[in-house]
Amino acid sequence: MSNRPYIVGNWKMNGTRAMLSEARTIDRAAQRYMKVEVAVAPPFTLIHAVHKEAEQIGVGAQDCHPGEDGAHTGDISATMVSDAGAKFVILGHSERRQNHGEDSAMVLAKLHAALNAGINAIICCGEPEDVRVAGDAEKYVLDQLRASLPEKLDDAGERLTVAYEPIWAIGTGRVATVEDIEAMHGAIYAFLKARFGEEAAQGIRILYGGSVKPENAREILAVPHVGGALVGGASLSADSFMNIALAAGEIEEQ
Ligand code: 13P
Repeated sequence: MSNRPYIVGNWKMNGTRAMLSEARTIDRAAQRYMKVEVAVAPPFTLIHAVHKEAEQIGVGAQDCHPGEDGAHTGDISATMVSDAGAKFVILGHSERRQNHGEDSAMVLAKLHAALNAGINAIICCGEPEDVRVAGDAEKYVLDQLRASLPEKLDDAGERLTVAYEPIWAIGTGRVATVEDIEAMHGAIYAFLKARFGEEAAQGIRILYGGSVKPENAREILAVPHVGGALVGGASLSADSFMNIALAAGEIEEQ
């Protein structure tokens, strides 16, 4: 099991080949931060090119289809992203759940496809603002995870990562409080332990996502049960992204 902090950049629908130099810079910097596991998930079109640049960082996809192959125009299978060089896939991001109507059953089907194709998965969860205001965030997130994750794992949990991303914090500059992050990550850990057992739960890193920046990374990454960060906007610049990785490495050294 790797318990290094895991800092993952989700480039979303950003990046053309002009971004490859940024990927190269991230990779070279990551070679100096060996205490931190750094990865990026570029758009499908750049996976292979980033993979060829990457000596140190992991490269992943932002989605995959639940099927193996067939008549699915415009879709990409887990085997295809693996073939392009992806070692993991982000699944169930709130932007997929919202923009593409993906429910947790679909996320679970995609997770099976990813594991069968031999790649790892980051399963996202997170509540909208009205649910948080109503005091139901924990129930909402655990319900999502209950339906998005399998009943059993075949390994000790190292192929799975969970990302908690409150929807109202994504791209808004607003961040959950340290107390709320601690409570939610503690609840997610307790759920994982109850479902998969303690050893597996300890192998599953729980990332926080939502407006993580170099300025707030240190505080967030120091919260118990926060195993890293899933970074959107700030991952598009090597400088800000690697400053987040640096913050993770400094916490690790304490
Ligand atoms: P931002 O870091 O831009 O808020 O995005 C977070 C996110 O959605 C990462 O998956």
